[in-house]
Amino acid sequence: MAAKTYYITTPIYYVNGPPHFAHAYTSVAADALARFARLDGREVHFLTGTDEHGQKVEQTARKAGVDPETFCNEISQQFRDMGTLMNISNDDFIRTTEPRHKRACIALWRKLQGNGDIFLGDFEGWYSVRDETFYEEDELINGKAPTGAPVEKIKEPNYFFRLSAYGPALLEHFEKNPDFIKPTSRRQEIINFVKSGLRDLSISRSTIRWGIEVPGDDEHVMYVWLDALTNYISALGYPDTDSELWRKFWPADVHLVGKDITRFHAVIWPAFLMAAGITVPATIFAHGWWTVEGQKMSKSLDNFIPPKVLTDRYGVDAVRYFMLRELSFGADGDFSDRAVVARCNGDLANGLGNLAQRVLTLVARRCGQRIPQPGRYTDVDRELLSVSTALLGEVRAEMEAQAPHRALETIWKVVAEANRYIVRQAPWSLPEAEADRLATILYVLTETIRNVAILVQPFIPTSASALLDQLAVPPDQRDLASFIARPLNPGQPVPEPVPLFGRLEERPARVTS
Ligand code: ME8
Ligand code: MG
Repeated sequence: MAAKTYYITTPIYYVNGPPHFAHAYTSVAADALARFARLDGREVHFLTGTDEHGQKVEQTARKAGVDPETFCNEISQQFRDMGTLMNISNDDFIRTTEPRHKRACIALWRKLQGNGDIFLGDFEGWYSVRDETFYEEDELINGKAPTGAPVEKIKEPNYFFRLSAYGPALLEHFEKNPDFIKPTSRRQEIINFVKSGLRDLSISRSTIRWGIEVPGDDEHVMYVWLDALTNYISALGYPDTDSELWRKFWPADVHLVGKDITRFHAVIWPAFLMAAGITVPATIFAHGWWTVEGQKMSKSLDNFIPPKVLTDRYGVDAVRYFMLRELSFGADGDFSDRAVVARCNGDLANGLGNLAQRVLTLVARRCGQRIPQPGRYTDVDRELLSVSTALLGEVRAEMEAQAPHRALETIWKVVAEANRYIVRQAPWSLPEAEADRLATILYVLTETIRNVAILVQPFIPTSASALLDQLAVPPDQRDLASFIARPLNPGQPVPEPVPLFGRLEERPARVTS
C-alpha cells in the first residue's frame, strides 16, 4: 500500500526566455504522476515555479533593456500561463524572488555555516553563464564547458561549501537507496562521478548583484544553484519544520528533472541537506532530452517550439498524450510533427476514439441509450473483463516506477484487445432476437471503456472526463477506489454520443527563430 502523501516537484525554470515544449514536457510528466497519486487517494503537493536570480537572467534582462525585476515578473507569468495552457494541476508555484524563499535560503545558509561547512576563499577558474556552473581549468574541453557552453575566466573571492567532505556519505546513501537516482544509467554516472572525488563548491558570487545577499556579507550574493535548489523546502515553509506542510510533505517523494541537471540534484542537493541535518528526498528522477533534428531543444540554442504552437495545432490532450507515450521516460527522443500526427491518429482517433464511438453509437441505437443489462458471460467476455480489470494494478505499478509510457502502453493493449473483440463479436450484425447477447457484449465493452477512461484521466484529463460523461459516470466515482467498487449500472441513461478525438493533419514544423 502506497504512503498517504505525495510530494512531487519540477525544476524551477530559468526566466531567461519564454517556456518551450520541453519545459512543458517536464511539467506534464509531473502532472500525470501527481494526478495519478490523487486518483489513488493520496494527498498530493505538486510544486513548480521559476528560478529568477543569477547572471544569466541578469544579463538577459539588461540586453532586453529592462530591470531584472520587471523582466522576471513578465517571464515568470509566461511559465504560469504555460501551466494553465497544458492543464497542469500544481498546488503551488514558487518564485525565487519571493520573501518566503529568501528567508529559507538565509536560514539554510546559516545552518550550513553553523555546521562549519562554509568557508571564504578565492575562486580562480571558469564560469559558464549558460550553465550557471563553475568549471576548473582541467574540466574544459577545447576551451568550452563539457556541455559545449562558452565559458569566461573569473577570479573573485567566493564562499565555498565543503562538498569534498560529503563523498563517503553520499556513496553510502546511493548504495543503501537504489531508488535515490533513477533511471539506473544516471545512477551509475553519478556514482562514478562521486567516486572520482568531489571538490569544494563555490556558493557565492561577488561580481554580480542579482541574487540573495549572503547573510553578514553584503559583498556577496548566493550562487544561483544554492538559491534554486532551496525552493523545494522554502515552498514547504522551511525553516518552520513544525508546520503542517512540512510535516506532511517533507521529504519529497520525487524531484523530477531533466538529465542536464542530475548532478545538482543528486550530489549537491543531498549534500546541502545532509549538512543541514535535513532528510534527503526519496527519488531524483532524471528524464531524457527532446531533440529537434538531433540537437537538444533549448532556449539558449534557439531551436525551441513554444507549447502554444502545438496545442493550437493539435489540442492540449493530443500534445500531452504524445509527450508521455512517445518517449520512454528517461530516454531521449526527437520531436517532429509527423510523429505527433502518427501517434495521436493511431492511438487516439483510431484506437480509443473509434472504440468509444462504435460502442456508444450501438448503445444509443440498440439499447435505448442506456447502459445495457448483461446476460451470461462467455469465456471471451470474461477474458476482456479480466484484462481490463487487471489494468488497475499494472498501471499503478508503472506509475509508482515513474514509467508513464509503459502505463499508456499497457492501457492501449487493452484498447486494442477491445477493438479486436468488437470486430470478432460483430454486435452490429446481431438480429433483434439476440438482444440479450448484444446487451452482454455492449456491457462488457462499456465496462472496459470505463476502466480505460478512469486510468487515462492523469494523462488526457479533458478527453477522459468527456468520455466518463458519455458513460454517465458520476464525478465522485472516477477515482481508483471506484474502479473496482463501482461498475456501470445497467439501465443508467447515457447522453447522445459525440466523437472524442478529431483526426490530426500534419502541418509543416515551424521552429521559431
Ligand atoms: O536548469 N528536453 O532551468 P531551465 C527535455 N533553473 N527537457 C528539457 C529540455 C529538453 N531539450 N530542455 C529543458 C534550470 N528541459 C534550472 C533548474 S531546479 C532547482 C533549477 C527541461 O530553464 C528539463 O526538465 O534550463 C530541464 O531540467 C529543465 O527544463 C531545465 O530548465
Ligand atoms: Mg537549461
